[in-house]
Amino acid sequence: MEIKISSNVRNLPVNFLVINMFENEKTTQNLANTYAIERDGFKGQLGETYILQTYGEIPAEKILLVGCGKRDEFCENEVRTVVYKSVKKLQQMCAKTAAFDFDLGFDYGEAAVIGAMLADYAFDKYKSKKATRVEEIIFGNVSEESIKSGKYFGDAIKFTRDLANEPAAFATPSKLAEIALNLDGIDTKVYEKDEIEKMGMGAFLGVSQGSIQSPKFIHMKYTCQNPKKRIAIIGKGICFDSGGLDLKPPSSMLTMRDDMSGAACVLGVMSVLKYFCPEVEVHGIVAACENMPSGSSYKPGDILTAKNGKTIEIDNTDAEGRLTLADALCYACELGVDEVIDIATLTGACVVALGTAASGIMGNDEGLIKNIIDSGKMVGEKYWQLPMFKEYFESLKSDIADMKNTGSRNGGASAAGMFLQEFIKDVKWAHIDIAGTAFLEKPEKEYIKGATGSGVRTILKYILN
Ligand code: BES
Ligand code: MN
Ligand code: ZN
Repeated sequence: MEIKISSNVRNLPVNFLVINMFENEKTTQNLANTYAIERDGFKGQLGETYILQTYGEIPAEKILLVGCGKRDEFCENEVRTVVYKSVKKLQQMCAKTAAFDFDLGFDYGEAAVIGAMLADYAFDKYKSKKATRVEEIIFGNVSEESIKSGKYFGDAIKFTRDLANEPAAFATPSKLAEIALNLDGIDTKVYEKDEIEKMGMGAFLGVSQGSIQSPKFIHMKYTCQNPKKRIAIIGKGICFDSGGLDLKPPSSMLTMRDDMSGAACVLGVMSVLKYFCPEVEVHGIVAACENMPSGSSYKPGDILTAKNGKTIEIDNTDAEGRLTLADALCYACELGVDEVIDIATLTGACVVALGTAASGIMGNDEGLIKNIIDSGKMVGEKYWQLPMFKEYFESLKSDIADMKNTGSRNGGASAAGMFLQEFIKDVKWAHIDIAGTAFLEKPEKEYIKGATGSGVRTILKYILN
């Protein structure tokens, strides 16, 4: 889909002219006022659409009228929803070209482009019959900058969704490393297995040892002239989570190619930083491997030693994400950054608690957590803070090591957070659990089934502010 701007959107010979309508108000088009509102009683509720023939009265073949709800309740998030709904309708009508003549009183470009690109998304790489797409969209009453910014957001989200949707046979640890090495404007160092051993990442190595895919520790760096702040973002990169020897049942394993959604998010964010040029140094970190059962797998009862020297008794090989993150967190803390944010499809318990509506967030710094939650609100991603009471560590206590990797199923999302905290040293830290939001089993909100790109918009917005 091509996205353009024009100062003359009303007079283009497109398939559809898309105009907005607030509840109980007239539109800027007489045709719409006469037929949709007066004759047919179209109300203009948020996301409602109405199609009108123009019979040569204006250059566009048809008008798509889209409801925006009440004017005083309409903000950027509603722009995204409304544009998403419009583009879905245009696809249904097999439209090839559309011009958006929205009259909103603010520069709605960024949110509109994100909405359009979310609607345009399909994972049809492996389908012989490709999805129906709108070829060209032209927006009016927006700035060049807002459109550009929206495109980079949209590109990053698409990048992440594509990668997380890919079968595990494609998105292997080596593939993630190769992608990271090819990112524009990013310096990447990939550590191979022997170097990972030398760095003392026993927890990460333990998880990886059952797979024939070799582990890759990926460190990407974006920097600028005088960074005002230094941040590390870490993504869980389990390219396939079979559970290991504590094998998952088939239904739970079905979508476990998505267990690198955190890594895909970090890669997506890194892929567009160059175009935004934020005055921040950003380190993107991924400990990539598979969690597989085999003769060489790590076993329940094993004791692993993480990079910071802490020992971990393996209680369940399916609690692998926190082990790989443990070493990545130690590594990030040693970089001397101001803030560390990790993002992971970490616990089924988080899905039980929050469903697909919100990601869990916790950490050791209320300010950082609040800023991430607020960035999410601006771009339409929801977070809910989960507690980090010391009681949650009780069940992780081990008789033979410093801790166990799992304990009680109850309070599992918080317990996982408490586990991660053991590997944080002298840094502001936030942990985001996207187990429920990263990958959908049915279409919801502005997403088709599959990967959503959860976290990309929020983390980008956070970095840019
Ligand atoms: N990758 C899973 C968590 C997950 C579950 C992600 C559902 C997305 C959807 C994680 O590695 C896992 O297996 N967690 C276990 C931990 C348990 C063994 C303590 C879980 O949540 O069941
Ligand atoms: Mn697991
Ligand atoms: Zn996992």
